[in-house]
Amino acid sequence: MQKTNAVVVVLGTGGTIAGTSAPGGDERVYRAAQLGVDDLLRAVPGLPPGLVCEQVVQVDSKDMSHGVWHRLAERIAFHLASPAVAGVVVTHGTDTLEETAYFLQRVLAPVKPVVLTAAMRPATAALPDGPRNLRDAVTVALDPKATGVLAVMAGSVFAARDVRKAHTSRLDAFEAGDAGPLGVLEAGAAVWRRDPPRDTPLAGWRWPEGAWPRVDLVTSHAGADGALVQALCALGTRGIVVVGTGNGTVHEALDRALHEARAAGVTVWRSSRCANGAVADKPGDDFPAAGDLTPAKARIALLLELMRGA
Ligand code: SIN
Repeated sequence: MQKTNAVVVVLGTGGTIAGTSAPGGDERVYRAAQLGVDDLLRAVPGLPPGLVCEQVVQVDSKDMSHGVWHRLAERIAFHLASPAVAGVVVTHGTDTLEETAYFLQRVLAPVKPVVLTAAMRPATAALPDGPRNLRDAVTVALDPKATGVLAVMAGSVFAARDVRKAHTSRLDAFEAGDAGPLGVLEAGAAVWRRDPPRDTPLAGWRWPEGAWPRVDLVTSHAGADGALVQALCALGTRGIVVVGTGNGTVHEALDRALHEARAAGVTVWRSSRCANGAVADKPGDDFPAAGDLTPAKARIALLLELMRGA
């Protein structure tokens, strides 16, 4: 049974869901982040009453920044503090949705649901997917079982930690790796396969006064060497997540450079290029493993860790 008489706040941040293409043109050619969140809501039939909307930013999410995360997190926290608000929906681009979701879950870990949604087709497409995703996200935000930061796309509900974009063009472009989705939307309601995780906000973490520490991703591959790592050290990087092969293995030339970086004070973690599975710590490993976090999320986890210790 959905919560009734409750307010859902819909925050707009841009993305393809707010994208437009030229009238009659090829809908694959469009500009993301053109329509306001109020326009997006007007295009969705059958929404419940009690929706409030606010445009936080208007960006193509490939250009997502730490500053936008800060602003978005503040607006979410502001709205969730109101007793009348049942949950928040965030319209977002698909390209970095998983990073924003994971970041928000780590720093806010809200008890009320914060549901990110997006679209693979622009709003002006003949058959856009945004309106359905937005309606489904509102449905989940009003579901009494929903908690924490979630993502809703193409009829599936995902946990922030697990969700990742796995396809360049399909409408169901998102998956959750080995964890699988938390649930699905059927006949206008969420059907849960497992409970959404309950976390607590990252202890000892606070918004930085100045610049965020630099944390980079470096990929291991055939023919890799240490040049990028050396260049990053010269730029003052504080952390490197190496995107290793298989179970987090690293080309020997790159590995040597990473050891030198660590000796110079750079924190190094290991993740994997593999789409599924986890990188486990085992005896003899020099660099901590990022577990089942994707490289992009491991970068955020290391960033938060360094900020916590700063
Ligand atoms: C974006 O990520 O903002 C553009 C691409 C998309 O939303 O699918």
